Amino acid sequence: MKISQISEGTHQLSVTVENMLFEGLWEIPNGVTINSYVVKGVETALIDGVCGWDGVPESLFKLLDDLKIELSSIKYLVLNHLEPDHAGWIDDLLKVHQDFEVYCSDKGAELYRAFFGENVPIHVVKDLDRLDLGGGKVLSFHMIPHVHWPDAMVTYDASSGTLFSCDAFGSFGNFERSAFDDDYSDEELAAFEHETIRYYSNIVGAFSPFVIKAIEKCGGLEIKRVAPGHGLIWQSRVNKIIEDYRDYALYQKGDARKEVTLIWGSMYGMTGEAVTAAEQALMDAGIKYHIHRVPETPWGEVITSVWTSSAVILAMPTYEYKMFPPMAAVLDEIGKKKAYGRKAFRFGSYGWSGGAQKELDEISERYKLGWTFIAPHEFKGRPTATDLEIIKSRVNELIDEMS
Ligand code: FEO
Repeated sequence: MKISQISEGTHQLSVTVENMLFEGLWEIPNGVTINSYVVKGVETALIDGVCGWDGVPESLFKLLDDLKIELSSIKYLVLNHLEPDHAGWIDDLLKVHQDFEVYCSDKGAELYRAFFGENVPIHVVKDLDRLDLGGGKVLSFHMIPHVHWPDAMVTYDASSGTLFSCDAFGSFGNFERSAFDDDYSDEELAAFEHETIRYYSNIVGAFSPFVIKAIEKCGGLEIKRVAPGHGLIWQSRVNKIIEDYRDYALYQKGDARKEVTLIWGSMYGMTGEAVTAAEQALMDAGIKYHIHRVPETPWGEVITSVWTSSAVILAMPTYEYKMFPPMAAVLDEIGKKKAYGRKAFRFGSYGWSGGAQKELDEISERYKLGWTFIAPHEFKGRPTATDLEIIKSRVNELIDEMS
């Protein structure tokens, strides 16, 4: 946990959370920061908070203490988004301080009451509403619904050009060395990008059309600094994070990077043998690919790869007249994230009966995925040399389709 001053009177208070599943679901092997911001004019506002998990609220109280900010001096709580990773600590806050006023959207107000009850004044704000803290600090509010929940808004401080964006422009990862992009080289940021795409695809991706709208809306602000609720503060590369987010949002439609994601599962190694041939074809073609075995690979990692890939290869046996179950599970989650329009190819083994294709068709239809499949290839038992050649040939066909 740490404090970073970002402008006169404004500090980031950041807590790194590790060894847990984000949203109780997504693996975060490199942790995630949960960032809160204190803005001090004549009055003091706290913008967003931290989760309510054991020890984390105490960390935020400790950081405020280190900054010599009395809890009793916090007059305003600006809640850009009520998801408990940002708001969960309010239960702990209310035990020691109740004399504050909340500023949030109308949906945020509903959520505040649902989570915490009716205990403090709540000011429902709309686009362009302002909160004057005195001393030249005026915060304005801008609705960005569905980035990530319907309640989401951003807060802008014109005096420093800082956009407090909560989930928007965030990333997973641990940034203990520095909270600012300025302190990392382009190479280091390129290495971190996986954490941003993983965060985007796992948490925000399903709402990509709203991300595009949010970017357009924020385009009217003179943004010198993006200060999100997760990840780095962007100062010297403000345009990069905004344009990266625009790219990630557009990947949802299918025309993503020229990359292939190969997702596979195998019961007794028959489909696995064919996967080796498919991977060889990818290597021979010199195309960038990601390969994930299920169920061994967490969903979040698979979804991250699919998000950036224009083509997907699915390799699995038939299992009790359906797809190998972990493949069906991950495809169902990919469908919920609305990763549309991929080029795709399926192959796999069967024993006494097929059936995988029927379930794949059902999932594709359920989520209106709009994937373009080239002819699948199934083989009974172990793949023959001919099967392996057909699979290699279909992989090459898939690559051609991407061009
Ligand atoms: Fe970081 Fe949707 O909460």
